Amino acid sequence: MEVIIQPDAAAAVKLTARIMGDALRKNPEMVFGLATGATMEAVYAELARMCREEGLDFSNAKSFNLDEYIGLAPEDKNSYRYYMEQHLFNHINIKKANTHLPNGMATDIPGEGARYEAAIAAAGGIDLQLLGIGQDGHIGFNEPLSSLGSRTRDKSLTPVTYKQNCIYFDPPESMPRRAFTMGVGTILDARRIVMLVTGEHKADIIAKAVEGPVTSMISASAIQFHRNVVVIVDEAAASKLEGKDYYRWSFENEPCWNEYR
Ligand code: F6R
Repeated sequence: MEVIIQPDAAAAVKLTARIMGDALRKNPEMVFGLATGATMEAVYAELARMCREEGLDFSNAKSFNLDEYIGLAPEDKNSYRYYMEQHLFNHINIKKANTHLPNGMATDIPGEGARYEAAIAAAGGIDLQLLGIGQDGHIGFNEPLSSLGSRTRDKSLTPVTYKQNCIYFDPPESMPRRAFTMGVGTILDARRIVMLVTGEHKADIIAKAVEGPVTSMISASAIQFHRNVVVIVDEAAASKLEGKDYYRWSFENEPCWNEYR
């Protein structure tokens, strides 16, 4: 695992988008795993800018989002499908048919998880998975005690996640308490993981996920098993990391990061 500390959130976002853009330029048929949430809004704005101003070409790319609320239709303003269209898909040249999210209206709940897994497999698997982290340590909606081998399925959301996300709903109580999410095992199957974490409110949880023991109580800690993962943080989110000096040294000196410094 590499941890890259950037001076502020804007720089962390730019680096994340740049890594994604470079991966797409190298492989125009990239299969992206995508996340939603407040942290990613600026990443998608930057990718949209790169598409518009630099000709970054998504026409042969595919995407699979991590999660979707159960009971929300695609056109619901709080659905993650709606979020993705507003923040990214409507602003880049990706083919809508190549963008995938779990179907929040699926009636066959176990079947939907299996269908989504099969769709990812049929696309050849995920090349680059973008991740955020929830305040309870979730990745996707893999709440505490999610099996580290779990696959796409339905999951009940914790009170911490409810508090984090209900602010987007009107009224807040209308937020669904269940969601489909890729499993931790599904996420670990991605060929590369890029996690972006910004803000002081994430400092505690990212320190536990990166430097603490691997535990299903903090799903994000499972990325320690992955062989190709970079965690990009701003100074605020990095404030509780014990190994900060080493991470900085490594970013400054590893040849693979030459073009990103
Ligand atoms: C959503 C997702 C979540 C978020 C996490 C952080 O698709 O994957 O794990 O990344 O809840 O959300 P924000 O960025 O709103 O703090």
